[in-house]
Amino acid sequence: LHIVHIAVEMAPIAKVGGLGDVVTSLSRAVQELNHNVDIIFPKYDCLKHNFVKDLQFNRSYHWGGTEIKVWHGKVEGLSVYFLDPQNGLFQRGCVYGCADDAGRFGFFCHAALEFLLQGGFHPDILHCHDWSSAPVSWLFKDQYTNYGLIKTRVVFTIHNLEFGANAIGKAMTFADKATTVSPTYAKEVAGNSVISPHLYKFHGIINGIDPDIWDPYNDNFIPVPYTSENVVEGKRAAKEELQNRLGLKSADLPVVGIITRLTHQKGIHLIKHAIWRTLERNGQVVLLGSAPDPRIQNDFVNLANQLHSSHGDRARLVLTYDEPLSHLIYAGADFILVPSIFEPCGLTQLIAMRYGAVPVVRKTGGLFDTVFDVDHDKERAQAQVLEPNGFSFDGADAPGVDYALNRAISAWYDGREWFNSLCKTVMEQDWSWNRPALEYLELYHSARK
Ligand code: ADP
Ligand code: GLC
Repeated sequence: LHIVHIAVEMAPIAKVGGLGDVVTSLSRAVQELNHNVDIIFPKYDCLKHNFVKDLQFNRSYHWGGTEIKVWHGKVEGLSVYFLDPQNGLFQRGCVYGCADDAGRFGFFCHAALEFLLQGGFHPDILHCHDWSSAPVSWLFKDQYTNYGLIKTRVVFTIHNLEFGANAIGKAMTFADKATTVSPTYAKEVAGNSVISPHLYKFHGIINGIDPDIWDPYNDNFIPVPYTSENVVEGKRAAKEELQNRLGLKSADLPVVGIITRLTHQKGIHLIKHAIWRTLERNGQVVLLGSAPDPRIQNDFVNLANQLHSSHGDRARLVLTYDEPLSHLIYAGADFILVPSIFEPCGLTQLIAMRYGAVPVVRKTGGLFDTVFDVDHDKERAQAQVLEPNGFSFDGADAPGVDYALNRAISAWYDGREWFNSLCKTVMEQDWSWNRPALEYLELYHSARK
């Protein structure tokens, strides 16, 4: 098959959240199964250019009252066409955050379809994502199906229903197939009015992570390479480095890591509660997060200052986006906490497991589908041919967090041998795209019938 993704986030060149990880890692997995994948992407001025290889001018065309230059390059082994409209839409120093974002990305989607048409491409599948490339779905059906792209089918993936529900609803109507990023989130949103008319073509497919991109055996940002065989030594070295780097007390304490966008979705009040609870239970806590909302950012800056004076040796809040530090935290932490209010899939718990950090999560969306409580989910795990792999809780309140976190920290203090074997177990589980990529291929094929 020839699959073309039209997307506005892509790791590592322009990653804002998990959507960027998925565009890259799903594409790589499908390409590895011998399919032909291209990505059409805006040529932002803020692209991390050092990750783009073999960048060359490809062609130029006129559309929408401007010249659009097209560049071709390789990112993580993937073929990417960069659209560079000369009207300045992507010269704003950011991916999102402009008042005219809907217009910018609407323009980009239309320009991408025009590029395919004028360039004589005949993809089997156009895959678009979230509100930002949702217009591909309806523009295609409105204006392009009869013009040379007759065999092409549209697959639309919802990564987060919270944003741009109108655009998502319209894209759902016109897409040939639609997906969201976990079976449980698919069930949770099935009753939503933008989804419910389309259930016959709507599927929940769990995300994977790219085991080559997230690989503790081959990671420049951690001190000692490790696999499940030397997980204890590898994580010990990473923990020491993390503690030194952040000026925390260098001691053998349970470290709870939190790596997240700081938004309502991620359970802000639960995160705060967990920080205090971890300190009470004689743990260390490291939070790496940034808040798009300046009020929330400010609030955390205050909390960071307060903690710096009251618990400077055991708590550190790093309130920025820092990819290298995220790797060191996944490797150095004993637990990664994800107390989301809702979570379509969640990648941090999967990355955590790849690095032998045990997930502590709220049971919602993809967190429910990937984390199986050591005390309560043995049977549910067995049904997936898995061992239980973490700690989880239901209620979006302090007792909920306490229930999971207390058990997690007690297990660390009271049963180190058992805890170490749990780290090994989670590392050995396969949360790559091996299985989900096959589900996407089946979906792509079924869209063409
Ligand atoms: P979402 O897309 O809703 O933010 P996901 O769990 O799907 O959540 O994906 C989050 C991705 O962004 C992960 O790869 C995580 O490591 C990364 N991430 C989140 N916050 C930060 C941060 N402050 N610094 C570095 N990476 C981060
Ligand atoms: C969204 C969701 C997150 C998911 C990611 C990738 O950002 O919030 O749960 O993992 O998309 O699909």
